[in-house]
Amino acid sequence: MTLFVSALTYFARVNNNMVGVPIKQPIDYSHALHTSQLGLDCRYCHTSVEVSSTPNIPPTETCMTCHSQIRVDAPQLEPLFESWGNNGDGLPLQWKRVHDMPDFVYYDHSAHINKGIGCSTCHGAIDKMEGIWKNEPMSMGWCLECHRSPEKFVRPKSEVFNMSYEMPTNQHELGKELVEAYNINEERLPQCSTCHR
Ligand code: HEC
Ligand code: HEC
Ligand code: HEC
Ligand code: HEC
Ligand code: HEC
Repeated sequence: MTLFVSALTYFARVNNNMVGVPIKQPIDYSHALHTSQLGLDCRYCHTSVEVSSTPNIPPTETCMTCHSQIRVDAPQLEPLFESWGNNGDGLPLQWKRVHDMPDFVYYDHSAHINKGIGCSTCHGAIDKMEGIWKNEPMSMGWCLECHRSPEKFVRPKSEVFNMSYEMPTNQHELGKELVEAYNINEERLPQCSTCHR
C-alpha cells in the first residue's frame, strides 16, 4: 500500500505530463500485435496522417473488416461488437486521447511526415507497445529542440514509417543535405507564430 501511494505521488509530481504511462482504453487493443506481428501499416488505420493535420483514429468498421470473422468469441472484443451493433448502427468506441495539445498550440501531422520526420521520433516504438503511452513530454522546449536544429532529426522520407530506424553515423552531413533537399525553412521553424497563431 505504501509503495502504491508513493508510486502515485511520484507520478503526480515528476510525471504530471503522463510520459511513459499507458492509458487504459475501452478495449485492450495492442499496437504490437497488429503492427509488428500482423504487419499492418500505420496508414491502414490512421489513413489521413500524410494528408491532414490530424491522423484519424479508425472507426469500428475498420476493425470489423477482420473481426467480423476473427476471434468473434473473444470477451475482450465484446465492446467492439457492441459498438458495431446491427451492421454498424451502434455507438462509436470512446477511445481516450493519449496526446492532447492545448488549443493555443497549432500542430500539423502532414507538415512533419512530408518533410522526413518519422513517427518514432515523436511517438517512440509504437510497434512494440501493447497500450500506448506518451513517449515524449510534447512540451514547448521539446518541440523547439527540433525546430531549432531539424538537421539532427530529419530522415529520408522513405523511412518515415520505419519504426526501427536508427540515425546513421553521418547524420550531421545527411541531415544538412535533407534540410536543403526538402526545403525546410529553418528561419521560420523556431518563430512563435509557427506554433501560436
Ligand atoms: C488496426 C488499426 C491500427 C493500426 C494498424 C495502427 N493503429 Fe495507432 N491507433 C489505433 C487505435 C484504435 C488507437 C486508439 C487506441 C489507443 O490509443 O491505443 C490508436 C492510437 C494511436 C496513437 C495514440 C493516439 C492518441 O490518442 O494520442 C498513436 C501515436 C498511434 N496510434 C500511432 C500508430 C503508429 C505509429 C502506427 C504504425 C506503426 C499505428 N498507430 C498503427 C489503431 C491502429
Ligand atoms: C487485418 C485484420 C485485423 C484488423 C483490421 C484488426 N484486427 Fe484485431 N486481431 C486480428 C488478428 C489476426 C488477431 C489475433 C487473433 C488470434 O490471436 O488468434 C487480433 C486480435 C485482436 C485482439 C485480441 C483478442 C483476443 O482474443 O485476446 C483485440 C482486442 C483486437 N484484435 C482488437 C482490434 C481492434 C480494436 C481493431 C480496430 C482498431 C482491430 N483489432 C483490427 C486481426 C485484425
Ligand atoms: C513531430 C512530432 C510528431 C510526429 C513526427 C508524429 N506525431 Fe503523431 N502526434 C504528435 C502530437 C503533438 C500529437 C497530438 C496532437 C494534438 O493533440 O492535436 C499527435 C497525435 C497523434 C495521434 C492521435 C490523433 C487524434 O486525433 O487523437 C495519432 C493517431 C498519431 N499522432 C499518429 C502518428 C503517426 C502514424 C505518425 C507517423 C506517420 C505520427 N503520428 C508522427 C506528434 C507527432
Ligand atoms: C523532430 C523534429 C520536430 C519536432 C519534434 C517537432 N517539429 Fe514541427 N516541424 C518540423 C519540421 C521539419 C517542419 C517542416 C518545416 C518546413 O516545412 O519548413 C515542422 C513544421 C511545423 C509546423 C508548421 C506547419 C505549417 O503547415 O506551417 C508547425 C505548426 C509545427 N511544426 C509544430 C510543432 C509542434 C507544436 C511541435 C511539438 C509538439 C513540433 N512541431 C515538434 C520538425 C519538428
Ligand atoms: C515549435 C512550436 C512552438 C514554438 C515555435 C513556440 N511555442 Fe510556445 N508552446 C508550444 C507548446 C507545444 C506549448 C504547450 C506546452 C505544454 O502544454 O506543455 C507552448 C506553450 C506556450 C505558452 C504557455 C505557457 C507555458 O509555458 O506552457 C506561452 C506563453 C508560449 N508558448 C509562448 C511562446 C513564445 C513567446 C514563442 C516564441 C518565442 C513560442 N511560444 C514559440 C510550442 C511552441
